Amino acid sequence: MSRLPNMQPTVVLLREGTDSSQGTPQLLSNISACLAVAQTIATTLGPRGMDKLIVNERGEATISNDGATLLKLLDIVHPAARTLVDIARAQDAEVGDGTTSVTLLAAEILKEMRPYIEEGVGVYTIIKGLREGRNLAMKKLEEISVQIDKSDPAKFRDLLLQCACTSMSSKLIYSQKPFFSKMVVDAVLTLDQEDLDESLIGVKKVPGGGMQDSLLIKGVAFKKTFSYAGFEQQPKSFTNPKVLCLNVELELKAEKDNAEVRVNEVSEYQAIVDAEWQIIYRKLEAIVDTGAKVVLSRLPIGDLATQYFADRDIFCAGRVSNDDLKRVVQAVGGSIQSTCSDIEDKHLGSCGKFEERQVGGERFNIFEDCANAKTCTLLLRGGAEQFIAEVERSLHDAIMIVKRAIKNNRIVAGGGAAEMEISKYLRDHSRTIMGKQQLIIGSLAKALEIIPRQICDNAGFDATDVLNKLRMQHAKGDLWAGVDIESEGVSDNFEKFVWEPVLVKSNALSSAVEAATLILSVDETVRNPQSDQNEAGRPARKNDVVHTRHSEHSVTPLTSADSGDGISVLSAYQISEAKKIIRGVLSLAFVI
Ligand SMILES: Nc1ncnc2c1ncn2[C@@H]1O[C@H](COP(=O)(O)OP(=O)(O)OP(=O)(O)O)[C@@H](O)[C@H]1O
Ligand SMILES: [Mg+2]
Repeated sequence: MSRLPNMQPTVVLLREGTDSSQGTPQLLSNISACLAVAQTIATTLGPRGMDKLIVNERGEATISNDGATLLKLLDIVHPAARTLVDIARAQDAEVGDGTTSVTLLAAEILKEMRPYIEEGVGVYTIIKGLREGRNLAMKKLEEISVQIDKSDPAKFRDLLLQCACTSMSSKLIYSQKPFFSKMVVDAVLTLDQEDLDESLIGVKKVPGGGMQDSLLIKGVAFKKTFSYAGFEQQPKSFTNPKVLCLNVELELKAEKDNAEVRVNEVSEYQAIVDAEWQIIYRKLEAIVDTGAKVVLSRLPIGDLATQYFADRDIFCAGRVSNDDLKRVVQAVGGSIQSTCSDIEDKHLGSCGKFEERQVGGERFNIFEDCANAKTCTLLLRGGAEQFIAEVERSLHDAIMIVKRAIKNNRIVAGGGAAEMEISKYLRDHSRTIMGKQQLIIGSLAKALEIIPRQICDNAGFDATDVLNKLRMQHAKGDLWAGVDIESEGVSDNFEKFVWEPVLVKSNALSSAVEAATLILSVDETVRNPQSDQNEAGRPARKNDVVHTRHSEHSVTPLTSADSGDGISVLSAYQISEAKKIIRGVLSLAFVI
């Protein structure tokens, strides 16, 4: 530029109407958006948290207390606030529980950092302080966590029960905590303890009855599939049956195929029909010869086959869903066969007991005492459908927590005890540091107090009062002092068995700090007209271009060719848009 002082090239890069907001106001508006999101779910935290009822555009209502579920249903469109949705989802997938906590924590960190941004403290200084604070906190968390001895099975089971109870105490099912925590722990303990694959715990919902009528079946259960005439003549209960799982259609093809066959004589037609019947009879005979007493198939089993099996005292079920069939195979052994010939004994599974049982208004096929029982099924009962759905979500949280506790048997006390101890540590540590980092780490310490404060607020306690008591107790060295939800005060939550796996806390803390630093590092949002049009039906998010200080894909300012630091990197989208503009200008030049 200095060599050509008279030339001021103007390069138009983005489409007309593109909106760009940048600098501190942009940052503050992103923080406000995140605070608004956190505010929506804040009241759901803790044992006295409330539930939310969300109705979608189709009129379907969901009642939930689970942070991740609520954020998903709220369908947030603000690009920065969506980061909070993402961390809640990540927490849900990774640890299962603590999704409300992680969102609140991230928002509170942002809130604490807001004054520094307003005062012009460099974002990098803030991020550095937060990261350092996070590292210190993680170290402290690891230090205070208590390892429970796995060698004593009874003691270890108790630990798992307590962790499940704590996770359920904030949910609709809290009144039935002992019943459900026993069920969840039994369910997780039936799994293969090496890989603990929670997808092998099937959950079936049966509306009607009370919560306590829910059952844990140590094996597989699935709803009776669609059946044809002759089904009722089949036996519905076996002891030690052989089970054959198929991926074969046992139905006359002509019944469903729209094939066209041209014949000259009636006898030829008869020959075609006979051939078809022979094919299916051959398959059926082969199946009967295997000695299997229970035949399941992923594909339909028609009326001919159903009657054939009924005549030979065999039970059959067609159109079994893929998940269910997979779990049956995992439980009873054998493998899914895709042909009826050459089936050997090793391809069949077996179980101690098979029966079709009525549960509520539904009939279930139940396989118990399975040969390789590494799977189980929860049959959930309850009044309303939304209610059972929330029970399922709560049990999922508890199952994940028990799984985590088995894998990493370190725990901390909940009810804000761990947060307060880390907060105290960070505050003490910050006083030993010089400069702005002291303020940042001190503010992070304050942000951690949001968890006990919100638990108190939701329970109707005087949060300032309880927090002062908590600070005092922790200063005195009472490591596990936390909010006492029964009486408005503080108690030793370790002794009260409010236990949580340390992983819930560590994951929440690191995700919250990461999300906060990500949001703080965004100082420009560019929104083109197309993304506004698509706002309602979202997924056009690829057109929202975000400028971060640290990101590799930064965007140049709208009309300037000089971006200050001399380097401008364009996103692929902008390059293609720029090419379009240049092409347009060139064609115009040719016309002239
Ligand atoms: N009996 C109790 N007394 C005090 N605090 C408790 C008790 N049981 C649970 N808590 C606390 O409640 C908080 C958990 O609340 P909640 O389950 O509503 O949210 P979350 O676990 O963060 O998110 P979500 O369960 O929605 O995924 C934790 O901080 C936990 O320590
Ligand atoms: Mg929870």
